[in-house]
Amino acid sequence: MHFSKLIFTLLVAGTAVAHPGPHDILPRAEIQRRSGMAKRCASHVGSFNQRRMAKRAMQKRWEGSGHNTTFEIVTEAPYYETIQNNTCVLTPEVTRGPYVWPRSQTLRQDMAEDQPGVPLWLDIGVLDMATCDPLPNALLDLWHCNATGSYSSFTGLSPNTPFETLLSELNVTDYDMGVTDLHTDDTTWLRGMWPTNEDGVMEMKTIFPGFYVERAIHIHAQVHTDWTVRENGTIIASNTVSTGQLYFEEELEQKIMSMEPYVSHTQINRTTNAEDTVFPEDLEGGYNPVVSVVPVDEDDLSKGLIGYITIGVDTTAIETFSK
Ligand SMILES: *[C@@H]1O[C@H](CO)[C@@H](O)[C@H](O)[C@H]1NC(C)=O
Ligand SMILES: *[C@@H]1O[C@H](CO)[C@@H](O)[C@H](O)[C@H]1NC(C)=O
Ligand SMILES: *[C@@H]1O[C@H](CO)[C@@H](O)[C@H](O)[C@H]1NC(C)=O
Ligand SMILES: *[C@@H]1O[C@H](CO)[C@@H](O)[C@H](O)[C@H]1NC(C)=O
Ligand SMILES: *[C@@H]1O[C@H](CO)[C@@H](O)[C@H](O)[C@H]1NC(C)=O
Ligand SMILES: *[C@@H]1O[C@H](CO)[C@@H](O)[C@H](O)[C@H]1NC(C)=O
Repeated sequence: MHFSKLIFTLLVAGTAVAHPGPHDILPRAEIQRRSGMAKRCASHVGSFNQRRMAKRAMQKRWEGSGHNTTFEIVTEAPYYETIQNNTCVLTPEVTRGPYVWPRSQTLRQDMAEDQPGVPLWLDIGVLDMATCDPLPNALLDLWHCNATGSYSSFTGLSPNTPFETLLSELNVTDYDMGVTDLHTDDTTWLRGMWPTNEDGVMEMKTIFPGFYVERAIHIHAQVHTDWTVRENGTIIASNTVSTGQLYFEEELEQKIMSMEPYVSHTQINRTTNAEDTVFPEDLEGGYNPVVSVVPVDEDDLSKGLIGYITIGVDTTAIETFSK
């Protein structure tokens, strides 16, 4: 455990929860500026990812020889043939979506709770784009829907009903993202936060997400610096330096969606990345928000997936959400 690191950021509750509101997409010039910073870091991203993958492979090999594990990851044959150097230097300030709910986001390394699905170990590296060096103690804030499209804290809202229709069913005429309170309960599954270690890397255990109406499969990700949390692990204050969504390759999605429990979600058709309206925003400025995935067992995807992605952040570009 990393408690010693966390102690100094724990504060007792007292301040009101900020309800961040909607925000504008960054001006093109700003996107280009960050894109330029990110491209400068491309080879750093490449070697950073390579080191993480190699380390994982060695760990698995060691486990394989010491214990009776049934799988071994082969370094020589990664899922992707080339390291994606530009792998998710994240698009700045893509929408946080209507299911952002900071009061259910808690500090933990396993956010799956009891949700069924294919296990996903998400290995995220954060690079400071000013220096191209790994950024320690950056808080990764992640949330996504379950295998059949529901978000915790909003389980009363159907994942199969278009959002506009949901609003009219609720008689909401003045919807303000992050301000209008649509939450239906206090469940917290598939929401979690954890800081990067001294090497700028963190890992979150979760499940592969499913899909809901009109959206491609995605995981919401924010990066915070200068963060403080309450005793219950929710955030009190932070500087948010990145907001985006992470995606997966269509080919992999087809395989996972053909498995239980995902395959039981038949009420709606899945939106692909190519059909999605937010995905292009995430590609702005040449960013690549697609997670590189290595199956734990090539022959049995149900054993789980390890996802790698690098998020480049500009620690001086602090996002402002209306409070
Ligand atoms: C990608 O990263 C690798 C490993 O560091 C490096 O050898 C290669 O030149 C990089 N490619 C680009 C296009 O930056
Ligand atoms: C590992 O498997 C071998 C062969 O099946 C068995 O003899 C051994 O006791 C097992 N070791 C452990 C730690 O389970
Ligand atoms: C944590 O505490 C805050 C402040 O009391 C509260 O609003 C929030 O719902 C709590 N969250 C959890 C997951 O306990
Ligand atoms: C996803 O969450 C909803 C709401 O809690 C639940 O009804 C559904 O069974 C969950 N999906 C799976 C596959 O467990
Ligand atoms: C919305 O308004 C209609 C008509 O006034 C009413 O019948 C319905 O109960 C309202 N729904 C909610 C969720 O308040
Ligand atoms: C899914 O798409 C197919 C082919 O376009 C269509 O026939 C079917 O009605 C759709 N199903 C739903 C639930 O919308």
